[in-house]
Amino acid sequence: MPAQVNSVTIPRPDDWHLHFRDGQVMESVVRYTARQFARAIVMPNLSPPVTTAAAADSYRQRILAAVPKGEQFTPLMTAYLTDNSDAEDLVSGHADGIFTAAKLYPAGATTGSADGVTDIGKIYPLLEAMQKAGMPLCIHGEVTDDDVDIFDREAVFIERTMSKLVSDFPALKIIFEHITTDDAVQFVLGGPETLAATVTPQHLHINRNAMLVGGIRPHAYCLPVAKREKHRLALRKAATSGSPKFFLGTDSAPHERGAKESSCGCAGIFGAPFALESYITVFDEEDALENFEGFAARHGPAFYGLPVNAGSITLKRGKAVVPGAIQAAGSEIVPFHAGETLGWELA
Ligand code: DOR
Ligand code: ZN
Repeated sequence: MPAQVNSVTIPRPDDWHLHFRDGQVMESVVRYTARQFARAIVMPNLSPPVTTAAAADSYRQRILAAVPKGEQFTPLMTAYLTDNSDAEDLVSGHADGIFTAAKLYPAGATTGSADGVTDIGKIYPLLEAMQKAGMPLCIHGEVTDDDVDIFDREAVFIERTMSKLVSDFPALKIIFEHITTDDAVQFVLGGPETLAATVTPQHLHINRNAMLVGGIRPHAYCLPVAKREKHRLALRKAATSGSPKFFLGTDSAPHERGAKESSCGCAGIFGAPFALESYITVFDEEDALENFEGFAARHGPAFYGLPVNAGSITLKRGKAVVPGAIQAAGSEIVPFHAGETLGWELA
């Protein structure tokens, strides 16, 4: 028996997908990310969405102002693509270091996606420009057709949209965001080097039973929705395998308690507060602690063409007690793992 590993030190990691929101909520939640991560890809689905470099630059300043003193944290901004996005603003925003990537929301797919893209054909010229400029594309990979079952929307997106996109833009870096199915795992593994995926903590920990057995549990609801157990197992295998195609992206999506515990609850799980503790628990359970560093700190920078962060962070076996709620903007947000105790903590 090899000796048990009791602590893991890795270069400072990054969160390659999260939602900070804006205003007071943003001011309350940025600290949870800055405590653990050196950088994060910030989603642009505000209302109104962040569609221009000027809007992204001012949003970035607001986030930076909310970073607690003494923390080193860099928000990496994304452009929200619409049918009418301005290719020139996009590409010059990328060249100027304002936009790290652009985000494609199929219109109607999720929270804040009403202004998203209605037909991918409409943005082919934009995608051409991004490919030429070396600007990565983050994709919410679900179809929105009424006749497609919500549990099938990711798999159908692969068939109808993603496959063609990958072959039509062979040099475009594509991040298949927050994958939830074995279908997506296999598609990413079988795809070119320009295709990678982020994996959230919730999709590694829970399947759809967590949401629906014994009562409806709105805090386990996010989009794409958690799927069957076989998909969770495929995601765990992929994320912990050491493959550079998979990296950390929490999709932390805070909604105040009342917006989730409602007759029409919002999609989104607030995973930021205990993200690293949550992920490393999975790597430990899968006996793959040696692959945690790649997933959390190396594969993302390599794919995005950014340096690995300086400095390091240590996680050790211990007790991370997750509170039942976190105060934000005069309200409460229920975090992922609320009320649980995780077996790893930040040193
Ligand atoms: O669950 C989700 N929440 N999925 C998304 O794609 C968006 C996010 C949000 O903004 O709340
Ligand atoms: Zn998201």
